[in-house]
Amino acid sequence: MANELKGRETEKRDIERRTYIRESVNLFTLLTGILYGELDQRLEIREAIRNQLKKPVPSHVNWTFCFGGISFFLYIILAVTGVLLLMYYRPTTTDAYESVVIITNIVPYGWLIRGLHHWAANLMILMVILHMLRVFFYGAYKPPRDLNWVVGVLLLFLTLIFGFSGYLLPWNQVSYWATTVATDGAGAIPLIGDQLKYFVRGGPEVSQLTLTRFFALHVVILPAVTFILLFLHFGMLRKQGISGPL
Ligand code: HEM
Repeated sequence: MANELKGRETEKRDIERRTYIRESVNLFTLLTGILYGELDQRLEIREAIRNQLKKPVPSHVNWTFCFGGISFFLYIILAVTGVLLLMYYRPTTTDAYESVVIITNIVPYGWLIRGLHHWAANLMILMVILHMLRVFFYGAYKPPRDLNWVVGVLLLFLTLIFGFSGYLLPWNQVSYWATTVATDGAGAIPLIGDQLKYFVRGGPEVSQLTLTRFFALHVVILPAVTFILLFLHFGMLRKQGISGPL
């Protein structure tokens, strides 16, 4: 008898919980419906989405065509995690290292955000190179897509400079010396080497000026230029369509 009462009680609570969920969903649908309905009347979003989703994928397209999309997905992850890291990172030679230690060990989920940023950066370089190889071996660089190939080469450089500038930001031994060696390498270029090294470092040594410049490059200049180039890259892709079979 006691068991039966308990069972009925649990069932009642279960029904109440499900009713609550259903009512919440209904309310959400109603509210979004009121908003969305008004928007759709003016902008015909549903029609636009339906047209996009109906676009058939040509039969020669295989998994190697995913590398470009994966690169873009990783770029979005990098942008989101990068903004979150910015909440705690301090770009000065006295504070940068400590702020990264704090992000990794004290900030809630800081280790996860930093880890995602680190792995997405490494994977993106790999994916962009694989994407470029796919485009090359399918001959998709030939006219009329040659201009998109040029934009792609610029995107590859930007991706590499993203990695190079980000490497200095933790201001630890390895980042300091890697940047010193790499900029020394630039100094070995005939004729313009010394000026180039000075320009990249912002002075004779890797210093606060270098960190400031790399920081500005990493969080403002590169994201903005990459955004514009991606806009062109995808624009041309939409206009010309994906290349044909081999
Ligand atoms: C940030 C880096 C990049 C992103 C996010 C990106 C993204 C994409 C995406 C999503 C596509 C369509 C699907 C595909 O073909 O995979 C595409 C196509 C294309 N990409 Fe990229 N890409 C990047 C870098 C590059 C590089 C480095 C090159 C070459 C140097 C390149 C050249 C092209 C060309 C020529 C096409 C047209 C391919 C075709 O029609 O078959 N892209 N890109």
